[in-house]
Amino acid sequence: MCGIVGYIGGQAATPILIDGLTQLEYRGYDSAGIAVLGPTGARRVRSVGRVRELEAALPKRLAGKVGIGHTRWATHGAPSEANAHPQAADRSTDAPPTTVFVVHNGIIDNARALRAALEADGVELTSDTDTEAIAHLIARADADTLEEAVLATIARLTGTYALAVLDTAHPDRIVVARNGSPLILGVGDREMFIASDASAVVRHTSQVVHLDDGECATVTAGGFHLFTADAQHVGKAATTITMTADELELGDHQHFMLKEILEQPQSLERMLTGRLDERFATARLDGLNLDPQALRRFRRVKILGCGSAYYMGQLGAQLIEDLARVPADAEPASEFRYRNPIIEPETLYVAVSQSGETADTAFAVQEVKRKGGTIVGLVNVVGSTIAREVDGGIYLHAGPEVAVASTKANTHMAVGFALLALALGRVRDLSITDGTRIVKALKELPRQIGEIVADGDKVVEAAELLAHAPSLFFVGRVRGYPTAREGAQKFKEISYRHAEAYQTSELKHGPLALISPELPTVAIVPDDELLDRNIGALHEISARGGEIIAITHDGVELDARLTITVPRSAPELDPILLMIPTQLLAYHAALALGENIDKPRNLAKSVTVE
Ligand code: AGP
Repeated sequence: MCGIVGYIGGQAATPILIDGLTQLEYRGYDSAGIAVLGPTGARRVRSVGRVRELEAALPKRLAGKVGIGHTRWATHGAPSEANAHPQAADRSTDAPPTTVFVVHNGIIDNARALRAALEADGVELTSDTDTEAIAHLIARADADTLEEAVLATIARLTGTYALAVLDTAHPDRIVVARNGSPLILGVGDREMFIASDASAVVRHTSQVVHLDDGECATVTAGGFHLFTADAQHVGKAATTITMTADELELGDHQHFMLKEILEQPQSLERMLTGRLDERFATARLDGLNLDPQALRRFRRVKILGCGSAYYMGQLGAQLIEDLARVPADAEPASEFRYRNPIIEPETLYVAVSQSGETADTAFAVQEVKRKGGTIVGLVNVVGSTIAREVDGGIYLHAGPEVAVASTKANTHMAVGFALLALALGRVRDLSITDGTRIVKALKELPRQIGEIVADGDKVVEAAELLAHAPSLFFVGRVRGYPTAREGAQKFKEISYRHAEAYQTSELKHGPLALISPELPTVAIVPDDELLDRNIGALHEISARGGEIIAITHDGVELDARLTITVPRSAPELDPILLMIPTQLLAYHAALALGENIDKPRNLAKSVTVE
């Protein structure tokens, strides 16, 4: 979704802003803009479309050592140059006239009322945005300093925001504020960076300060001063981010999605390092901040996440029930808060998120905390909003994930749940023999995933076959069902083909009516206690002319057009390996269709608004 960048220091701001916006492109956007303050005044350039179109629209010389930039994902008003940020408000009464520029992520809920009040006061609004109202409120505030003007304005806003404000009346600073949308400061050597996401500053500095909700900052070339909405100073030191600029490079790969699928063996190896305790056949999860007594106290586990993270939560719930025999379930975080959930003291709540910034999941975390529940996180992005709000957690260490369609982070989530299930199981009735079996199987996963991704021919053949079907089913049972759901999600996200997941057992209760030679089925068929029943259901499909692409284990004989096999793991962990070919299927189908794989239409990498 929307991205913010800002710079103040000794270098030319424009190339730094453009580079930062380029790094944020993966989040999804429809227009972009920058405002730069130079010796001869401020210039604003905005354009619809890609950052490279903005770059092409820039004047030859756009001098200035302070500026702000934005990629916009339309919420209030269509994608247009007028609606792109920075939004501006002139103070024509000043001599000489001054201008306030604002870039904003988030949604202002009372924007309509604020805009109406401004218009009633004679302000001519030039955009449909909520952000323009913010710029005018700052420009019109009865305040001596920019900080006071920003504080007076945010006191009138309801909703979510990350703001960066540039004011030609105060050219030595950028003032920022955060409430519900991520914002970080990058600390350089006599220069400062502002960004909604660390990927935009990682080329310049590894020292960052994460703003928390309710915090504002004055950012100058010499440093930063953090303060709260009631102007109280906040003391906070910079932390070091481990992400490197190289991790954000495509390298020899055609797409980030393929790069991320292929790097899973190494990223998983990294995730597991130091987390497996072979002596006691358990997982070492110090970051959970839960000792064995605390882990034993929980009588239920409730997992909250959105989209693919929710499906991985379903897979995780099954793992927890299998290994720890604790009742567990997953629920879309986007629904949770709105049904006034009952928060139980003996339930362990788990928020799962790649970005750690998904607004729906962050709100669910707040709901649990507000009602006194214990919530831990399975989060990839270190220092992200959710990671900082939970009581403890397991970092996924998947490295940056750039492609909108999540792959390696999903696998890491599934493995994170396996570690959690193992830890919960071993303080209960999971025997040392079973614990050892799971530890061994986990250690094997990176190598086994390496085998699957190296042997892609069948997947490519299957993907080309599926790419031209107008609609398809993904089916699986019990442990295989979350894998089927995630497989369908991945396929539809990037190939734009209708793909629907069902429990294999449910086909005969309705969806079987749709089976025909035009509607193929991808079947997840582990070699487990349900194999015979799965085979029976697949016969029902082929008997009606339906084509089957089976993802199964070596040696399993199935009535399928194409069979893709994966190595066997522990049965509890099989769904993780069975998921890898579904990632490749989606990728190769989208490739065959010539779609924009890394940035699918209508989708954003991190959904920071409700
Ligand atoms: C995954 O391919 C999707 N783009 C999407 O469903 C994603 O998993 C979801 O929006 C949650 O994101 P998060 O993991 O960053 O919270």
